[in-house]
Amino acid sequence: MEIIVKDTVEEMSQVAARIVARTLNAKPNAVLGLATGSTPLGLYKELVRMHREDGLDFSQVTTFNLDEYVGLKQKHPQSYHYFMDENLFKHINIPKQNIYIPSGTTDNYEAFCAWYERRICECGGIDLQVLGIGSDGHIAFNEPSSSLGSRTRIKTLAKQTIDDNARFFASPEEVPIYAITMGVGTILEADRIILLAHGKNKADAVAKAIEGPVTSVITASALQLHRDVMYIVDREAASSLDMLEYYEWIQDNMVHAP
Ligand code: PGA
Repeated sequence: MEIIVKDTVEEMSQVAARIVARTLNAKPNAVLGLATGSTPLGLYKELVRMHREDGLDFSQVTTFNLDEYVGLKQKHPQSYHYFMDENLFKHINIPKQNIYIPSGTTDNYEAFCAWYERRICECGGIDLQVLGIGSDGHIAFNEPSSSLGSRTRIKTLAKQTIDDNARFFASPEEVPIYAITMGVGTILEADRIILLAHGKNKADAVAKAIEGPVTSVITASALQLHRDVMYIVDREAASSLDMLEYYEWIQDNMVHAP
């Protein structure tokens, strides 16, 4: 694993955007795995800027989002469909038919989940997966105790996640309690993974994911099993890492800056 520590959220987002841009320059029809939440907002803003100012081309790109709330219509302002459209898709030249986001309103979740997994494979698998991390250590909505081999399915959200996400809703009671989410096993099949995190609220989860044991209690810890993972975090999110000095020493001596 590579651990990149940046002073600001803007720098964190720029590093991530450069990695996405390099991926698309090397493979214009790359398949991207995308995340929602406040963490990737700066990354998406920077990708939109790169598209407008530097001509970063998404015309052949395919995307798969990690998750969606069960029960929210696509047009609901807190749905992840809406989030992706507002913050990225409507500002870039990605064809609509290349965008995949789990459905929160299908009447057959089992069939939908199987189809979603199949579509990822049929599109050649995910080249680059972008992740955030929950304060409970989750990736996507793989809450504590999720199988590390899990596939796309419905999960019941943890109380901590509902509390964390209540800030986006009028009241905690409005936060859906179920989500449809790619599994840990699905995520681990991506060729390359970058995980972004910022803020003190994530420090404990980041430390456990990187330095703790591999455990279903912190599903991000499963990334230790992947051969190409980069954590890009700000100083606050890095503040509980025991070996921070070592990671920074590696970062300072990298042959290729990320
Ligand atoms: P956040 O959520 O980006 O809104 O902090 C991250 C997550 O829950 O994975």
